[in-house]
Amino acid sequence: MFVLKDVCFSADGNSILKRITLSIKHGEIFVIMGLSGAGKSTILRLLNGLIRPDSGQILVDGTDISRASEKELRVIRRKVGMVFQSAALFDSLTVAENVGFAWRKDKISKKEMAEKVKEALALVGLADVEDKMPAELSGGMKKRVGLARAIAMRPQAILYDEPTSGLDPMTSNTILTLIKDLNQRLQVTSVVVTHDLAGAFKIADRVALLHEGEIVFVGTAAEMEQATIPLVKRFLTGGQAEQGGY
Ligand SMILES: Nc1ncnc2c1ncn2[C@@H]1O[C@H](COP(=O)(O)OP(=O)(O)OP(=O)(O)O)[C@@H](O)[C@H]1O
Ligand SMILES: [Mg+2]
Repeated sequence: MFVLKDVCFSADGNSILKRITLSIKHGEIFVIMGLSGAGKSTILRLLNGLIRPDSGQILVDGTDISRASEKELRVIRRKVGMVFQSAALFDSLTVAENVGFAWRKDKISKKEMAEKVKEALALVGLADVEDKMPAELSGGMKKRVGLARAIAMRPQAILYDEPTSGLDPMTSNTILTLIKDLNQRLQVTSVVVTHDLAGAFKIADRVALLHEGEIVFVGTAAEMEQATIPLVKRFLTGGQAEQGGY
């Protein structure tokens, strides 16, 4: 679904991603871990064309988006839904308006829109919240609404930036289960950025560890636990000792 070849990205003269080469398969749950500032969110932004690489190729379903026009990128963004860190809902819009945001310029009837919104909300386990404002929702509900907004377009892939940050362990667990459930039910490819090691291992088909803009490991959770690479071992022990701390 996604192929990155020698992708470099820099900002303000700082090299943020250094020759990233990575392939994410159709239908898998691919988790990206790494310390704060490693470049995880930057990878997600590259994958749905919010930013462009300085060099290298990014193929989304076979299309090289590093050179795509704005028009082509709009098509890609419909294929690749993004769930932003902190849900990023529009505070002045209702839940329904938030979920249906991507259709605001489309010619679809109010009734059809309401049905699509309701269906997306049902998929994340929410009902009768259409008219609420984001401020009236709990953190976990906001994350669900953010998720509903991403799946409403029926994307082929969903990118999640720290979907469980700021949630209590039980709510985190339900969100992770939901990610896994949606991955299967909608048959999407899921790319999840998280600091939550236990959660990552629970849902991931494969895990990548990013360190200072470079991929230092890609493999299954079991392979990661067996890895002898010093950076991986340090991340695993440090991650457990300071879970949720850094
Ligand atoms: N547009 C930008 N302009 C300048 N610096 C940027 C830009 N985008 C990212 N950076 C820098 O790139 C580095 C990686 O940022 P990124 O947000 O990808 O990290 P991250 O791994 O998601 O971190 P966190 O776990 O804290 O969310 C950081 O040092 C950040 O300050
Ligand atoms: Mg980030």
